Amino acid sequence: MAEKSLTLEMRGITKNFPGVLANDQVDFDLREGEIHALLGENGAGKSTLMNILYGLYQAEAGEIKIGTEALHLDSPRDAIRHGIGMVHQHFMLIPVFSVTENIMLGAETDHRAAPNDSPLVRLDRREVARRVQQLSQEYGLEVDPKAIVGDLPVGVQQRVEIVKALYRQARILILDEPTAVLTPQEADDLFRIVHKLTQRGVSVIFITHKLKEVLAIADRITVMRGGKVVGTTTPQETNENQLAAMMVGREVILKVEKSPAHPTSQVLEVDHLHVRDVRGLEAVRGISFNVRAGEILGIAGVQGNGQTELVEALTGLRRCESGTIKLQNHDLTGKTPRAFTETGLAHIPEDRQRHGLVLSYTIADNLVLCDYYKPPFGLRGVIQQQSLDSHARQLIQDFDIRTPSPYIATGKLSGGNQQKVIVARELSRPVQLVIANQPTRGLDVGSIEYIHKEIIAMRDRGVAVLLVSAELDEIMSLADRIAVIYHGQLVTTVNTTAVTREQLGLWMAGAQPETTA
Ligand SMILES: Nc1ncnc2c1ncn2[C@@H]1O[C@H](COP(=O)(O)OP(=O)(O)OP(=O)(O)O)[C@@H](O)[C@H]1O
Ligand SMILES: [Mg+2]
Repeated sequence: MAEKSLTLEMRGITKNFPGVLANDQVDFDLREGEIHALLGENGAGKSTLMNILYGLYQAEAGEIKIGTEALHLDSPRDAIRHGIGMVHQHFMLIPVFSVTENIMLGAETDHRAAPNDSPLVRLDRREVARRVQQLSQEYGLEVDPKAIVGDLPVGVQQRVEIVKALYRQARILILDEPTAVLTPQEADDLFRIVHKLTQRGVSVIFITHKLKEVLAIADRITVMRGGKVVGTTTPQETNENQLAAMMVGREVILKVEKSPAHPTSQVLEVDHLHVRDVRGLEAVRGISFNVRAGEILGIAGVQGNGQTELVEALTGLRRCESGTIKLQNHDLTGKTPRAFTETGLAHIPEDRQRHGLVLSYTIADNLVLCDYYKPPFGLRGVIQQQSLDSHARQLIQDFDIRTPSPYIATGKLSGGNQQKVIVARELSRPVQLVIANQPTRGLDVGSIEYIHKEIIAMRDRGVAVLLVSAELDEIMSLADRIAVIYHGQLVTTVNTTAVTREQLGLWMAGAQPETTA
C-alpha cells in the first residue's frame, strides 16, 4: 500500500496560560485517512492543542498548514471552512431541539440569501433532514433526523455531533476523549464508524486515556507530557507498559495489588428500594444489599440499568418511591444530601460538572465544599484562610493536581484535573462510606494507579466502599464482592475471586444465574 499523503501539519505550536506553558513548541502531523491517537497525562496539553486546531484558542507561536496552504484559524468558523471538525468531551448540542435543528444550528448563514420568512427555510429543513439521513446511512451512524436530542443516549448524541461535523464537510475530525462516557458496546460502535470514516479519506485525531483502545485502533500514536511531544510511535512498535511510561515519565503498575478484605459491621443497608427516573419510569425495582466496613462492593452493569438512579437515591439526590436506606443504623430514606454527608458519606458523582464541583470557585474552595463550616475550616462562622490554604496545598500535592496555584477557578483545569479535585476532596474526608461512581473517568494511568491505591487504603482502614463503574476491569480489580444490576434489579452477588469476566458479561446482558450466592 502506498504511503498515505500528509493532510495537516502543526509546527512549533506554543500556548501560554497564566502560570502554565500548555503547549511548548509542539509538532504534530496527520495523514490522509489515518487514525492518530493523542495520548498524555492529565494537563499535558492535548485539549489545548486541539482547541488551537479548531480555532478556539490562538497560539502565540507556530504554524498550521494543510498541504502548502498556511491556515489562520481565528475561530471555529475558519476551522470548519478548512474541513476541520471537533467533537468535544462535553457535547454542545441543544437538548430540546431535534437532530436536524441541531445540525442546522450555526450553518443557517449558508442560506443567507433567503429572506427569513421564505418557504425556503422550511424547504431547507427538509433538505437538511434528507442529507442527515443520507450521511447517517453512508457511515452507519443510525441517527434519526427527527429525534429530540435530549431523549437520545449519550452514544447517539455523540454520533449526532459526528454527523454535524460531516454535514459541514469535515475531512479532519477531532474526537476529544470520545469513549470516556461510552459503554463498551457504544465504544465498539464508535470504532466501527471511525474506520468507515477513514476508509472514505477522513483523518481522525483521537484523544483517549485508554491504552488498550489506542493499541487497537490507532495507526500512529503521539504522546505528550508537560506541554511537549515526547514521541510518536505505532501500535506495532509499542505496548501498554511502554505507553504508560512514556505518558507519565515513570513505570506504572497497571495491575492493582490488594490483600483479601476483612469486613466487619454493616455500614450501608439498602432494603427493597424502588426509585423512578426523570421520566417517572421505575428505574430501581426492589433492590436490597448491604456494604460492610472494610469491603468494596462493586456494582457491575451496562449503563442505563438503574445505576445512576440507585446512586442518586443513596446520596439523597433523588427521592425514593419506597424501601429504606440505612447508613450507620440511621434511617436516611428521604433525607437531604447534607444529612447523608453528615452521617459519614463521601460521594464521587458520575457527572462531575453538575454535582461535584462549582467550576467558578477556586480549587481551594472546592476542596472544602462539604465541610467549610466546620473546624478547622470554619470557626464561629469565620472561614480560616490559613487552614484552607494548607489543606489545599496538601491535597494538590498528594493527588498530583496539576495547577499553578490553589486559587484559580476549577473550570480552568484540564478535564482530568477537575476529576482529581473531587476525588481528593471525597477520599480525604473522615467518612464511613464512600460511594464512587466512575471514580477514574478521564484520568491518566498514573492517576488511576494512585486513586486505586487510595481506595484500597481506605478499605483497609475500615471504610465501606460502594463502587459503580462501567469499566469491568476496574470492578474486577478493586471489588471484593460484585453485584450485577440488570433492568433495575440485582441479578446476583458473588465473590470476585469466584467469577470470570465472561460470566459477569452474561449476567450483565440479562442471563439468569443458576444459583444465587
Ligand atoms: N482556559 C484556560 N485557562 C487557564 N489555563 C488553562 C486553560 N485551558 C487549559 N489550561 C491549562 O493548560 C494545561 C493543559 O490543559 P489541557 O486541557 O490541554 O490538558 P489535557 O492534556 O487535555 O488534559 P486532560 O487529560 O486532563 O483532559 C493545564 O495545566 C490547564 O490547567
Ligand atoms: Mg483534555
